[in-house]
Amino acid sequence: MRDVTRLDGHTAHAIALKGLSKMFGPVMALHPINLSVEKGEFLTLLGPSGSGKTTLLNLIAGAIGPTTGVILVDGRDVTQMPPRERGMGMVFQNYALMPHMTVFENVAYPLRARHHPSKTIRALVMEALERVGLRGFEDRKPRQLSGGQQQRVGIARCIVYSPAIIMMDEPLGALDKNLREQMQGEIKRLHRELGTTFIYVTHDQEEALNMSDRICLMNMGAIAQLGTPDELYFQPHKRFVAEFIGESNLISGRMRADGRMVIAGNRSVTVPAGRWTEGAELLAMVRPERVQICGFDRPAKGGSNVLSGEVVSCSFIGGMSRVTVETENALRITAKVISDHAASRPAPGARVRLCWSSSDVVVLEK
Ligand SMILES: Nc1ncnc2c1ncn2[C@@H]1O[C@H](COP(=O)(O)OP(=O)(O)O)[C@@H](O)[C@H]1O
Ligand SMILES: [Mg+2]
Repeated sequence: MRDVTRLDGHTAHAIALKGLSKMFGPVMALHPINLSVEKGEFLTLLGPSGSGKTTLLNLIAGAIGPTTGVILVDGRDVTQMPPRERGMGMVFQNYALMPHMTVFENVAYPLRARHHPSKTIRALVMEALERVGLRGFEDRKPRQLSGGQQQRVGIARCIVYSPAIIMMDEPLGALDKNLREQMQGEIKRLHRELGTTFIYVTHDQEEALNMSDRICLMNMGAIAQLGTPDELYFQPHKRFVAEFIGESNLISGRMRADGRMVIAGNRSVTVPAGRWTEGAELLAMVRPERVQICGFDRPAKGGSNVLSGEVVSCSFIGGMSRVTVETENALRITAKVISDHAASRPAPGARVRLCWSSSDVVVLEK
């Protein structure tokens, strides 16, 4: 990450949001938030539909004005500044290309709008097209391109004037899965090559985990958790985060004085040591891939927590199989295991034991 130290000795963030909020009439689209983005960082806004991602992006870009709060870019207050002066570029899900213009003219558009001298325009457009692999396509119209190619034009049009901050709002949302994965790689490469600050919006958790330096997970117009992909996956702070990112088993229980948690059927499980008070009603979260399925013939391996039960279903999803078990104390727990051939996979009705280590448990508020 590149850094710029200001004269006053403070390192300015690429973007700092302070108490930023937005109401649409009576709808609180964004509760007041504080958020800093570092220079050169790839930050993803992740969250379900309606959680406020586009609103936040549009506030930063200046497409809409905030109800409260300020936006600092590189330490400067840009809250009242018109969008074009903020040095930001935007890529949209629906490409937003001008259909009657050629690829060249679409990419040249922001340069013309900024009154670039026409003799430099051609070189800049060709360089941007080169970067997105579209050299040779400059005379085509958007309708003569595939969806993936149209989005490359959208990206070229964004990077052509070298904005200091690049924002993308679900740019791959209209593409099929394979193309999406390929484009994820290309956007990451672009980020590395340009060294620019990226703010990327998606509702796809795998895309966010794969691409981001940090993820800002949003829910109902507020930040649910901000952290690295690892932090969100391995140390979710609350139930919403554990459920939105990856799969999770949630077991509710009450903390006992000895540090164990009493769960359904008066059974108990061990959880990592923490500042839980006796009697607290909490959730123990364990990821399905951390749950092992053990037979009865051998001692249970790999865990201090053991529950026996009966297989309810086993779904084969390629490399992994998802096995759901109803335990003796009437909990539904899912294990994700490396797939065996059909004859060796756990079949519904089979009696099994589930084991997991207490170090794989995350304790959450209810
Ligand atoms: N122009 C608008 N007028 C009224 N409500 C809006 C407007 N834009 C967004 N909203 C509301 O604000 C909330 C957040 O929307 P949005 O930022 O588009 O979410 P996301 O991009 O995460 O799907 C939603 O409840 C949405 O209906
Ligand atoms: Mg949106």
